Amino acid sequence: MQKLFLLSLLIFLVWACDNSSHAYKTHKHLVTDTAMVVSAHPYASKIGVKIMKQGGNAVDALVATNFALAVVYPRAGNLGGGGFMIIRTPEGEATTLDFRETAPAKAHKNLYLDKQGQVVKGLSRNGGLAVGVPGTVAGLYTAWQKYGRIKDWAVLLKPAIDLAEQGFPVSEAEAHRLNKYKNDFLKWNPDNKTFIKDRWLAGDYLVQPNLAKTLKIIAQKGPKGFYEGPVAQAIVKKVVKSGGIINMDDLKQYQTKFRKPIEVSYKNYKVISMPPPSSGGIALGQLLKIVARYPLKKWGFHSYKTSHLMVEAEKRVYADRAKYLGDSDFYPVPVDTLLSEAYLIKRMSDFSMKKATPSTDIFPGQFQFHKESFETTHISIVDSDRMAVSCTTTLNSNYGSKVIVDGYGFFLNNEMDDFSAKPGVPNQFGLIGAEANAIAPHKRMLSSMTPTIVTKDHEVFMVLGTPGGSTIITSVFQSILNVIDFDMNMYDAVQAKRFHHQFLPDYIMFEKNTFSHKVADQLKQAGHQLKQIKYIGIVKAILVKDGQLEGAGDTRNKDDDVEGY
Ligand code: DON
Repeated sequence: MQKLFLLSLLIFLVWACDNSSHAYKTHKHLVTDTAMVVSAHPYASKIGVKIMKQGGNAVDALVATNFALAVVYPRAGNLGGGGFMIIRTPEGEATTLDFRETAPAKAHKNLYLDKQGQVVKGLSRNGGLAVGVPGTVAGLYTAWQKYGRIKDWAVLLKPAIDLAEQGFPVSEAEAHRLNKYKNDFLKWNPDNKTFIKDRWLAGDYLVQPNLAKTLKIIAQKGPKGFYEGPVAQAIVKKVVKSGGIINMDDLKQYQTKFRKPIEVSYKNYKVISMPPPSSGGIALGQLLKIVARYPLKKWGFHSYKTSHLMVEAEKRVYADRAKYLGDSDFYPVPVDTLLSEAYLIKRMSDFSMKKATPSTDIFPGQFQFHKESFETTHISIVDSDRMAVSCTTTLNSNYGSKVIVDGYGFFLNNEMDDFSAKPGVPNQFGLIGAEANAIAPHKRMLSSMTPTIVTKDHEVFMVLGTPGGSTIITSVFQSILNVIDFDMNMYDAVQAKRFHHQFLPDYIMFEKNTFSHKVADQLKQAGHQLKQIKYIGIVKAILVKDGQLEGAGDTRNKDDDVEGY
């Protein structure tokens, strides 16, 4: 009897130990002296820090963290997606690297329209036709080649390869999403069992041998191992089988681009962000320049005046986005005008402190909102020399198009939905567009991703970014104001409640408890509609102050994690 009891106890202890292994320890707030990584997963943040401890700089850490996220955060971390990064060297030079996906050569303006000229629902969001030519592998390699300090590229992939090969316990959030999208995985990948289980639970091991194989090829051959040869062939085969049009030339011709950042002065700070094909830098710059003319601090955080002004600015800025922004290699985006003082003063000339301007008076458009679940991910890094990297990368939706490359184990994006399929018809974020963001061969689709670095007195001050589709820009905007105007530390600035207006739909989205009853009533009386949504943005940020690094992960994502030393 006693033996039986001891055996039961032993079984229980083994079970309990095993079951507790999924309980990741994450830091949402950390202050250190030397170097820091903030990412969406503790395994990835730890890998970035380890690389810096081994002598790597912020760019080396970024590359290793990104490859790790492709394994442990498959809903957004990726090989089959794209993104943007801002790099600021210790000498103070800032550049941006664009590794956004491109439209395949066979794409055209009416790709998603039926014979009647109507948008075919879902075509730009699921399956092969939703896939843009991926940029991530080329982007990470380009950044490392130009800025990396670790000599051996393969060293940066090794931790990700180990995680893919040996497996890792999935978090609660990942288990939830793997279960949620099971039917989509099966629909597009009937033979792939890697992501399929009766029911995923936190702590279950996800082992990805095919992904490990792909990472090994990239470790050995660099981007050629991805954009040419068997991996490229497998991408094309799967995309075509799933209804898409990417060919071998599209992959072989994919090019990253270094671009001059958008730089805007705000009070005593310089804000460095992403130019087109992201709308992030221009929109953020416009918003900051508009509100700079008003005494936000005196009006107070989330007061009626501050909130109303921010919303009215956002409406006008998102209307501009819809009309004027797209890939500047294909369309003459009027960057200087949009950011000019004179233009912005004129843009706000019909602003009334007492009344909301209806969006239809700003710029007419039709609207319908499709709610899907989104996922993108951001990494902020500062190293011991104060080199800073801010990088946002995405598959667009959770697990992108849900199409997995057979035999190679990675998801392909559905970034084509970021194009304007038809003027005035909204994409999954409710964003509308027009000619500037129309589909064309090799063109990059307009993004909202806003990786940003803020400097003060020529030193790095803040590194930040976030997922959140259309709400990315306003989440970054609010986090900056929270620190600069409302004197918050980085952690409080990230956790603070957020609101958002994107011109259409014509309502303020807000998180629970953002506005006091009084302010909510005042906003309604002024003519605003309010709509509560679950959360807005998942900001990852580092503040450099008094010689120290203050990192903040967002409590909106359980897995967000700050690591540093
Ligand atoms: O580039 C963009 O703006 C979108 N594809 C980003 C998607 C996104 O943030 C989804 N996330 N939460």
